[in-house]
Amino acid sequence: MTATNPPDNQTLIDKRQQHFLPTAVLYHNEPLQLVKAQGEYVWDSDGRRYLDAIGGIVCISAGHNHPRIKQTLIDMLERDEIQHTSTLYLTRYPVELAETLLQEAPEGLDRAAFTNSGSEANELAFMAARQATGETMVLNLRHGYHGGTSGALSQCGHHNWRFRAQPTASAVSALEPYCYRCPFNQKPDSCNFECAQNVETTIQTATHGKIAAMIVEPVMGVGGFIAPPEEYFTEVTRIVHEYGGKYISDEVQSGAGRCSHDFLLSKALNIDADIITMAKGFGNGAAIGGLLMRSDIADTLGGKLYFNTFACDPYQTAQAKVTIDIINEEKLADNAMAMGQRLIDGLRGLTARHELIGDVRGRGLLMGIELVKDRKTKAYATAETTRLMDICKDLGVLLGKGGLFGNVIRLAPPLTVTAAQIDTIIETVDNAFHQLAKEA
Ligand SMILES: Cc1ncc(COP(=O)(O)O)c(C=O)c1O
Repeated sequence: MTATNPPDNQTLIDKRQQHFLPTAVLYHNEPLQLVKAQGEYVWDSDGRRYLDAIGGIVCISAGHNHPRIKQTLIDMLERDEIQHTSTLYLTRYPVELAETLLQEAPEGLDRAAFTNSGSEANELAFMAARQATGETMVLNLRHGYHGGTSGALSQCGHHNWRFRAQPTASAVSALEPYCYRCPFNQKPDSCNFECAQNVETTIQTATHGKIAAMIVEPVMGVGGFIAPPEEYFTEVTRIVHEYGGKYISDEVQSGAGRCSHDFLLSKALNIDADIITMAKGFGNGAAIGGLLMRSDIADTLGGKLYFNTFACDPYQTAQAKVTIDIINEEKLADNAMAMGQRLIDGLRGLTARHELIGDVRGRGLLMGIELVKDRKTKAYATAETTRLMDICKDLGVLLGKGGLFGNVIRLAPPLTVTAAQIDTIIETVDNAFHQLAKEA
């Protein structure tokens, strides 16, 4: 069957404006209509190819349209395998996914559950932690992001994602472990992890002294790839447990082999998590989220019903299982680490040439470039970041952005990215900075 010609971009923009909620934003001054993808590349409706250095939106781990994923789905459709069924019936795919995922779990996390998204995975994590502890208070970090559903949004550390009427009961924020803009004015090599100690102060001053949970991303994604060191997590998990809470490690962005040789960064960093949530790259773009948790927490949910119509969908769970198999068999986490090193070295090499670069940071293939107008004042270079993204797009490389003030370029290419493609990304970013300087 031949696909029909795509509508022109302006028609889509107009119709989106007419039909969608005003919350739906678009990347780029001249938005792209992406119609095709393969491996590390995507194509727009004019047939132009781009290197996808943001991996969808940090969702593409095994590469776009990986042949094994395609074949799995085609075979299932050709066999007329049931397209929808729920957990009320037996299906092999969610069970096979659970078995596969549990092999990647840190010790002690021996139950799995699936949802449709990262937000829902976090909602279930909050509920489980609250049920297990009998407490309601959940701590989060300023600059953190955990999803767009009500409970998840109440744990959000960004003013621009919160709504005026957003309920925030039983949520409190600790200060961010943001070394480049340390809220305690410390330097990473001489600090006493005041940011970790602040978790204890927050519990002592903003709660009744007991908590249900704390949720933390091992690398803060929307916050601009803030990547605290391992010691931070050792101290914070100790504090959370001391005050009776469960530690939820939100690996929606950092998981799926993107940030460590292990499938989960929490395992690689020895984070003593009670619950780990994931989505995005976990299903290589399928609408699926997942959780791992300790069975003593899971057991406290017994006797109640939790039903989610589309969670455990055969096609989504089959895709997530093949994705994990591909990541393991093709050693994509190892490639992510090697390519991540090449990327950070290359990007840090640009710092001397481009004054706008304030910081280059991240782990594996979650890499951020923070743009500042002045290295001393660290004034946010928000407009410049947007412009840099547009220039890179015109040069054939798609980047993302994040940070509280939108001044962090985010790079998260598929884990299959090659050394030559990494070099292209670095060269393109370099050229884009040069062009930006000429425009100034
Ligand atoms: C760290 C983190 N947690 C949770 C979510 C929410 O996931 P979803 O958009 O699939 O609901 C996101 C989404 O960007 C995220 O970055």
